Amino acid sequence: MAILNLLFATRNVPGIENIDVAEAHGIYKGVRKAVTMERQAVIDEIKASGLRGRGGAGFPTWIKWNGLPKNYTAPHYVICNADEGEPGTYKDRELMLKQAHTLVEGMIIAGYATYSKVGYIYIRGEYVEPAWQVRKAIDQAYKAGYLGKNILGVDGFDFDLHIHMGAGSYECGEESALMSSLMGERGNPRLKFPHAPLPTVEGVWKSPTLINNVETYCAAGWIIANGSENYAKLGTERSKGTKIISVSGHIRRPANYEVEMGTPLLDLITEAGGVIGGGLKAVVPGGSSVQIVPADRLGPINLDYESCGANGTLLGSGGFMVFNDRTDIVLLMKRTSEFYAHESCGKCTPCREGTRWLFKILDRITSGGGRDGDIELLLNVCSNIDGRSYCGLGDAAAWPIVGAIKAFRPEFEYWIKYKKSPVGASALPPSPEVVNPLLLQAAAAHG
Ligand SMILES: Cc1cc2nc3c(=O)[nH]c(=O)nc-3n(C[C@H](O)[C@H](O)[C@H](O)COP(=O)(O)O)c2cc1C
Ligand code: SF4
Repeated sequence: MAILNLLFATRNVPGIENIDVAEAHGIYKGVRKAVTMERQAVIDEIKASGLRGRGGAGFPTWIKWNGLPKNYTAPHYVICNADEGEPGTYKDRELMLKQAHTLVEGMIIAGYATYSKVGYIYIRGEYVEPAWQVRKAIDQAYKAGYLGKNILGVDGFDFDLHIHMGAGSYECGEESALMSSLMGERGNPRLKFPHAPLPTVEGVWKSPTLINNVETYCAAGWIIANGSENYAKLGTERSKGTKIISVSGHIRRPANYEVEMGTPLLDLITEAGGVIGGGLKAVVPGGSSVQIVPADRLGPINLDYESCGANGTLLGSGGFMVFNDRTDIVLLMKRTSEFYAHESCGKCTPCREGTRWLFKILDRITSGGGRDGDIELLLNVCSNIDGRSYCGLGDAAAWPIVGAIKAFRPEFEYWIKYKKSPVGASALPPSPEVVNPLLLQAAAAHG
């Protein structure tokens, strides 16, 4: 089993949150090296490493870095997406808690390569402790001369780094909504390429903007410090390096595991101590937005973008959830749909209405009111959300339900026919409406 602690190399080192200990363990070596390189050479190194964004979509990192204008004639911004809202994912939390200097280093390098003088780390509202650690790391980095003006004596290389706390909205992890929120606007998404310019051309404050995930910046720092060839020799042909997988659910040792890309999925379950409370029923490998895979189809899946995609699911953000055979899949989908209905920002109709319909149908089924035709109705609602919503949240709400029906249709049929759970979970009373309490108050006020 290939557990490779590249980014997590120092996560358990006592005192690693202090810059002197961090430096003694090689952190900031990447910045020192980067400033001796041409800026384009830094981007070329990221290209050679094959690094792809770790926020979920796996977009090649170098293409974004290369997309910003190569001069200082107008302001450019570097943003770190530390919103980490995808259920089952908690890797960015641990990176910030234990390796905040690694993140700061990666962002400084990105600032250098993209001619940016200002960076923002957008941290989800609930992540108070990680934010403290990042704050501490930023303060220390200023004192040590890694942030501020003429960094490391390089004339004209200035970089300031700020923290912006979100308010715990899943939608604010979507990059265009994040940028709106950062600018003080409502956290709604915006039109995207090709209907609007890319963020690298027109992002925050209409300026060229780079936006990457926490793990992506941490990996970029490692690559510059240790060489792209050492990163690119790990993983598969198209998924290079390592991926941090957040393991949770019915598993003996839930934790973040940094694995080589291409590691067999079942090996990770063994490494994490095996399933508890029953036999293995299914895995959601990439966060709640991706399709659930039943145990008998897990064998061929490796933890890389291509293998997950070829097997009907996604590696996504690496939120790896394990379910034993006492899990009621329909109840699981009810809870999942409740989350998306609650998090829908309401801007577009398919998602605003559809996510609530999905929840209501699943709620009715699991409280004993299922009707013939409910499965077709669920699929119909999903097909009217998927691909028809303004941003990816709509798709993310529909995919897990379509996947669960595909893999576990008899469980849905059982609930509808017998009004009870196929695994003996008790039927539940209907849930209260999943809507903003303010809307309920408004509805009550209008009779
Ligand atoms: C609804 C939604 C929520 C998202 N939440 C996150 C998040 O919490 N963190 C993240 O890094 N990316 C998230 N993303 C992906 C971002 O939009 C963006 O692709 C990512 O930050 C780019 O960074 P990367 O290239 O390093 O992966 C989300 C996307 C969608 C559609
Ligand atoms: S899909 Fe539409 S309603 Fe849902 S979060 Fe995106 S913009 Fe908002």
